[in-house]
Amino acid sequence: MLDWYDRHRRTLPWRALPGERPDPYRVWLSEVMLQQTTVATVRPRFEAWVARWPDAASLAAADEAEVMAAWAGLGYYARARNLVRAARAIATDHGGALPDTEEALRALPGLGDYTAAAVAAIAFGRRAVVVDANVERVVARLFRTAGKPAVRAAAETVTPDRRSGDFAQAMMDLGSAICTPRRPKCLLCPLASDCAAHAAGEEEAYPVKPAKKPR
Ligand code: ADE
Ligand code: SF4
Repeated sequence: MLDWYDRHRRTLPWRALPGERPDPYRVWLSEVMLQQTTVATVRPRFEAWVARWPDAASLAAADEAEVMAAWAGLGYYARARNLVRAARAIATDHGGALPDTEEALRALPGLGDYTAAAVAAIAFGRRAVVVDANVERVVARLFRTAGKPAVRAAAETVTPDRRSGDFAQAMMDLGSAICTPRRPKCLLCPLASDCAAHAAGEEEAYPVKPAKKPR
């Protein structure tokens, strides 16, 4: 996957160029924006946002009403409110720099398990297991496994110690471009020879949707 990523990585405004250090503020902001919003929608909004508030210090000093207005159209406004709260906590409790461990990131407003893992891995090079919906689908198919705990355990076994952030972004890119929900392009997939769902011809049967609880 890392080799595939080196050949196919998308250029995105929050991603560092190969060999460069990512800016943790930009990684954090992008992951929050991408929680419920597509890459295509996020990209221009991200650019406008960082032009106005280029770092955590400027966001901490921002007028909250202006921040909320800048979020307009992205939905789930709690995300914007939590960005300002977290920026203020970063200024007061962390000397202006994002903390660099999953645990400390998890303690900031608006950073759940996914976002804390993504920022620790992508921005700080920490080993972290990053499972969003795209990664979940790819891993469920690779292992022909079902259910969040089993998928998470399987993701843990394939996450490398080095470059786990690049690995996560490679899995996200594979999930969005190749291992799509319908009609995955297995002929283009670097994992096809290791994929249990592909071997069985049952790609679209995974991920298994959780059964609706009877009422
Ligand atoms: N979706 C969520 N985080 C992402 C990232 N870092 N790259 C591409 N898509 C994403
Ligand atoms: Fe997804 Fe097909 Fe690749 Fe398996 S072989 S990971 S189903 S694209």
